[in-house]
Amino acid sequence: MKTIKHFLNKIIVGDALEILRTLPDESVDITVTSPPYNKRNKSHGWLVTKEKYSNYDDHLPEEKYQEWQIEFLNELERVTKPGGSVFYNHKIRWDDGVLIHPFEWVSKSKWIIRQEIIWDRMIAANMRGWRFWQVDERIYWLHKPIGDYLIGKEIKAKHAKFSSIWRMKPEPRTENHPAPFPLGLPLRAIYSIAETGKKVVLDPFAGTGTTLVAAKLLGHKYIGIDVSSDYVEIARARLRRYKRELSLAEEEIKRHKIDDPFKARKKRGTVTWPFGPNNTSKKDSR
Ligand SMILES: C[S@@+](CC[C@H](N)C(=O)[O-])C[C@H]1O[C@@H](n2cnc3c(N)ncnc32)[C@H](O)[C@@H]1O
Repeated sequence: MKTIKHFLNKIIVGDALEILRTLPDESVDITVTSPPYNKRNKSHGWLVTKEKYSNYDDHLPEEKYQEWQIEFLNELERVTKPGGSVFYNHKIRWDDGVLIHPFEWVSKSKWIIRQEIIWDRMIAANMRGWRFWQVDERIYWLHKPIGDYLIGKEIKAKHAKFSSIWRMKPEPRTENHPAPFPLGLPLRAIYSIAETGKKVVLDPFAGTGTTLVAAKLLGHKYIGIDVSSDYVEIARARLRRYKRELSLAEEEIKRHKIDDPFKARKKRGTVTWPFGPNNTSKKDSR
């Protein structure tokens, strides 16, 4: 088996699960990823006309899809270092009126689910009236414990101050890719648990390379995988010009700040929590 050095700062064209099997045990610190959702679009309405991948038709029987995702998540667990994390983005779907929740298969994998984050995209992909406009997706923060200690390391208050609802508009669909992340999403995930230090950041469904750009902007090493050579080319070009996206990283980092720390407020006797039961002051932010 090749050492992890062989994979660093590269994007590999291939199947996520097959390539993961070639990575050594416990060699990755953080993964931020979003697999294809198995949308099985029967007809593409005007809103979803561009929602087609270049090299993948996103159309598996649901049972097979979930088996694949569990196998994938378990392989990801093997390559992740103890103490490492995965941010796995997925969403609630409906198949002929029956709700399919990603928790169904994520909870069958080997991972400890540390948190379910709601990604409020503020925009719906389907605006028909079958149900209320669905603007949210899920991000599972998965954690590989060190030994028997399942809780994991505490993150700093300046990161934990963000709520479990991340309000970020998605990148608009382009001719190049149907479903890129907003850069702020992997930036927040990675920076919150690894401000500094050359961590190994992976995205096995790298698409246009958003996670990899976020890792590079934050000074980490990256590994990308995608089945489409078209997307890999786009991601490589984007990484070469990564400094163009520096201002977005700076903006996200600035948000990770506490103007009035807890200790000072405690000393003044003005402790309130922005999301606490007694909070009446909108001014208070940690
Ligand atoms: C939701 S998109 C990821 C988008 C990415 N987060 C970005 O910001 O551009 C899913 C990606 O998975 C890729 N893909 C589909 N099947 C794959 C497989 N078996 N192995 C690796 N990549 C795959 C698609 O080509 C697509 O780029």
